[in-house]
Amino acid sequence: MYDFKIAAADKATMYRDLLSALEGLTAGEPDPIANMANAAALIWETLPDLNWAGFYRNVDGELVLGPFQGRPACIRIAFGRGVCGAAAETLQVQRVEDVHAFPGHIACDAASASELVVPITRDGQLIAVLDLDSPTPRRFTEEDEAGCVALCELLARVL
Ligand code: SME
Repeated sequence: MYDFKIAAADKATMYRDLLSALEGLTAGEPDPIANMANAAALIWETLPDLNWAGFYRNVDGELVLGPFQGRPACIRIAFGRGVCGAAAETLQVQRVEDVHAFPGHIACDAASASELVVPITRDGQLIAVLDLDSPTPRRFTEEDEAGCVALCELLARVL
């Protein structure tokens, strides 16, 4: 049984504990799907106020749905389309305070109001994106972005 103690006292502590839990969960496991699945579950359990947390994988230049927690989601996303596609195309983090104001946003769940998408790269190549959605506008702060970038740097080594 995995039972991680993640202190939610403040965000910095929470992300530090989350990173060390993810390190423990993925250590020595080479299967990328297993690692994405546990990462999605851990993030979903730990971060408050999410309605979707998961991955889209780069499969031959197209984003294809990977392990996630939340409602069923659209399966394939072209690079450049929506928030995930923008992250995939630019390799830049997309932190969107109001998804309804984002051109081309793909509404997989009408409840989503804000979104954070972090590209996961190795040697400059896109492996996948981490996608987090929230029903609360402006849910994701710079601190969330920094915390999730650190998680994705770790994941880049185990995906
Ligand atoms: N909203 C995303 C699509 C994926 S779902 O949120 C799970 C987008 O615009 O790329």
